[in-house]
Amino acid sequence: MKRFWILSLLLAGVLLPAGLGTPARADEGMWIPMLLNRNEADMQSKGLQLSAEDIYSINHSSLKDAVVIFGGGCTGEVVSDRGLLFTNHHCGFGQIQYHSSLEHDYLTNGFWAATEADELPCPGLSVTFLVRMEDVTEALLGGLPEGLSEKERADSVRQRTQALKEATEAGTHYRARIVPFYYGNQYYMFVNEVFEDVRLVGTPPSNIGKFGGDTDNWMWPRHTGDFSVFRIYADSNNQPAPYSADNRPYRPRQFFPISLRGLNPGDFTFVFGYPGRTQEYLSSYAVHQVAEVENPIRIAARTRRLDVIKAAMDADPLTRIQYAAKAASIANGWKKWIGESKGIARLKTVEVKRAFEKEFTAWTLTDEGAAYRGVLPALEAAYQALEPYNTMSVMLQEIGMAPELLSIAYAYGQLAEAASADGFSDSAWQAGLDALHKRTELFYKNYDPRVDEAIFRTLLAMNHEEMAVEPDAATQKDLYAKSLFANADKAGALLNTPYAKRKTFIKTVENDVACKYARLIYGQYLNQVRPTVARLSADIDSLQRLYMQGQMAMQPERRFYPDANFTLRVTYGQIQGFSPADAVHYAPFTTIDGIMAKENPDIYDYVVEDRLKELYAAQDFGPYADSAGRLPVAFIATNHTTGGNSGSPVLNGRGELIGLNFDRNWEGTMSDIHYDPTQCRNITLDIRYCLFIIDKFAGAQRLIDELEIRR
Ligand code: ARG
Ligand code: GLU
Repeated sequence: MKRFWILSLLLAGVLLPAGLGTPARADEGMWIPMLLNRNEADMQSKGLQLSAEDIYSINHSSLKDAVVIFGGGCTGEVVSDRGLLFTNHHCGFGQIQYHSSLEHDYLTNGFWAATEADELPCPGLSVTFLVRMEDVTEALLGGLPEGLSEKERADSVRQRTQALKEATEAGTHYRARIVPFYYGNQYYMFVNEVFEDVRLVGTPPSNIGKFGGDTDNWMWPRHTGDFSVFRIYADSNNQPAPYSADNRPYRPRQFFPISLRGLNPGDFTFVFGYPGRTQEYLSSYAVHQVAEVENPIRIAARTRRLDVIKAAMDADPLTRIQYAAKAASIANGWKKWIGESKGIARLKTVEVKRAFEKEFTAWTLTDEGAAYRGVLPALEAAYQALEPYNTMSVMLQEIGMAPELLSIAYAYGQLAEAASADGFSDSAWQAGLDALHKRTELFYKNYDPRVDEAIFRTLLAMNHEEMAVEPDAATQKDLYAKSLFANADKAGALLNTPYAKRKTFIKTVENDVACKYARLIYGQYLNQVRPTVARLSADIDSLQRLYMQGQMAMQPERRFYPDANFTLRVTYGQIQGFSPADAVHYAPFTTIDGIMAKENPDIYDYVVEDRLKELYAAQDFGPYADSAGRLPVAFIATNHTTGGNSGSPVLNGRGELIGLNFDRNWEGTMSDIHYDPTQCRNITLDIRYCLFIIDKFAGAQRLIDELEIRR
């Protein structure tokens, strides 16, 4: 009798110790570092040798003090007591490109600063440390009067957010960021310290850092040496400061030691970083809209654009350079969405969600669930209302506004519009011209009007096929022949217009056919479609908040991890291969043998440096070889990651760095919406390949000497 009584309490979750809370499913989840004590027992049973407090603590320094937001959308980690930082090559790409010129082509040849004095300042680049995080739900939502309208609620939350942010920042150099979790059912505050003097220390050549290019992107098996090296600088008090020649290497509270001890299938790993966005708790209506409405348009439009760009890049080496970064970013989303839609179809996510919604609806008919009775029908109606506008919005983004000619013409048009106002001053005019000058320079450096026109034509054809509308046939006919913006010199010449002659500028720009067309398209998007989508999305957000609450109330025993929102998270899993198709199995490790097998001097993505071939021929791998004498390059594991996790430290059970996260496998890209433990893998650059390149390939011994290497 007594035993039975304990058992039923256990089942009811009453006696369940915090650490044993049921984790969702195997390896799925992006956990809040502050609440990691709830995962501690599970993590330790899987191989973690640290405590939750070692990973995140507010009382003493912990691993979180070595993890940063790198720039605007990546993660990085501190690896020495002199502020040395590792991140991905694709995360440092903009900085590497910024410092590259024909004489110093660091993109092609790589770069290794010989001394600290040679490290290159990177204007605009910052790294952000988390000082502490706090649950501020009560401060933001506590005591809100009953029966507020959505707008009133949002206004109160906004005011409280602002006040709390100001109070927290007052008298410190910290910056506070307050972020909704679970669709606004909870809020957390992140107190950050931002360093602005960050310098480029080293990067491998692109044929290592981007090896495999877009061909291998989002794919396993992978052989990309996707890393670059930076250093954080601080003032003489070790405090953040703008760039100064007098700044010195930052002394961090914590940095990651590096393990060369080797890895095996099944080894425990965890990833500590900044996943950007996931949507795991959507309704079937939402998933349908992503996978069957949005993605197909995006994919079709980008397929056309990429076909044009690829052909032009293959035909002309200058175009290859000009369009490399654009092609990479267009292709990255394109390939991800293809994988995502396939994964959602394969997992039958819409059906799975529908089945759950049936249960949910049944539950809402009980007293317990009564508060959520109308939420699913309301969501369905809201998504139906959104669909046509969402379709237009995606079409405008991917088709209408894709020709770049329109973006530059629109920018000139905006200055023309501003300058038409009475009292527009001489200094405002000069400032406007300066800004346009910079933009014009950057724009035409990487612009070929023939490529752009071909994109315009193919997208127009698609528009006709899909929408059967004809916005302005006459304009479209000779847009590129007639617009002055198809010509860099003509556009640039306009920037010499003195204040007194600004009327001529205004007239020329406003009469330009591309400016007119751009105003039509951009106007439609900015003034009509986007505001409507925003309004309808706000309705959906409130409903989704309620639906989230309902899902949590219905399954009180389940531990819900919050969707990614570019805040610091821990995810854990193990090194493991997968089987993408019947009779096919992928092993979890790649080696340099695979690089040599992929080598092809005629295919840009697969060119291999002579120096790497020499090292390979000599089998000169030093301490970086595995126990069989082979040089590891990358591995996969079951950690649940997403965009933003690029550059994240991948750690072993002792908290030692074993690699840098840089991608996911194609079969698993639907994990942002639906995680499948059999298919979803994160792709990690093995730290041994990274150090091999720094040491043996580049000879940058001074960097190796700075690291704490454990063998
Ligand atoms: N797929 C990775 C990510 O989502 C890498 C992207 C950069 N590489 C590329 N070939 N486009 O960011
Ligand atoms: N490459 C991605 C990034 O830049 C990470 C890959 C992913 O989406 O998982 O964040």
